[in-house]
Amino acid sequence: MTRPELRLVLAVSLDGRLAPPQGGAAQLGGAADRQLLEQALAWADGCLIGAETLRRHGSTCLIHSPQLLARRRQRARSAQPIAIVVSRSGIWRPDLPFFSQPLERWLLLAGEPSGQAADGFTRIERLGAWLPALEKLGGAGLRRVVVLGGAALAASLLQAGLIDELQLTLCPLLLGGNHSWIGADGPLPAAAAWRLGEQRLLEGGELLLRYRKVGDPQSG
Ligand SMILES: NC(=O)c1ccc[n+]([C@@H]2O[C@H](COP(=O)([O-])OP(=O)(O)OC[C@H]3O[C@@H](n4cnc5c(N)ncnc54)[C@H](OP(=O)(O)O)[C@@H]3O)[C@@H](O)[C@H]2O)c1
Repeated sequence: MTRPELRLVLAVSLDGRLAPPQGGAAQLGGAADRQLLEQALAWADGCLIGAETLRRHGSTCLIHSPQLLARRRQRARSAQPIAIVVSRSGIWRPDLPFFSQPLERWLLLAGEPSGQAADGFTRIERLGAWLPALEKLGGAGLRRVVVLGGAALAASLLQAGLIDELQLTLCPLLLGGNHSWIGADGPLPAAAAWRLGEQRLLEGGELLLRYRKVGDPQSG
């Protein structure tokens, strides 16, 4: 069974942080980064969201661009990629705006479902090891998935060697603190080398960097 292609999309500061020292929702990127994020979402069949990012932000990013929405419509794709929350605890406020957003919601749950965890989700899958869980998503027709972070989710997938592409917007800020964009305590795979696929200067001095995993046929 095949798993979807996974692209990690993050805005990071010059010192490699994805949130301010106190944590919380960080608006690091400007308008150009927002456009790139929407393009990544338009490419995707689904997006993975760490439960802490959901709790902190309360909602997830949507495609707003009329052109991107029209293109998805022409190809008979849903307006928005499926939002797939990844969690062990299954705990969040049930009144988060996320649950009113116009998209399909799935849950990948590693722990035991708590009372209300299932509410608002049309599909719930058990998350044991990553590969079979992703293969299940592949079996459900998802070929491309954007990983929206945060750091713990990114680390977990990088440690499993399952991220195929890194799309980072480097933002001209220094944030300090502990919120490095890979929240990895443990080691990353030794062979985790990456080949630069694209670099683009964006407005406001931001820099788009796209890397493919070395060994991936598409990395050239
Ligand atoms: N700059 C950016 O582009 C960007 C993007 C996204 C997020 N952020 C920031 O990142 C911060 C949140 O990041 P974070 O690292 O604290 O949290 P996170 O990665 O968003 O979420 C962590 C939670 O996700 C679940 N999870 C992660 N890996 C799992 C696995 N392998 N199996 C089962 N569950 C798993 C667990 O949920 P439970 O807690 O339910 O057990 C875990 O506690 C926020 O400040 C947010 O603003 C920034």
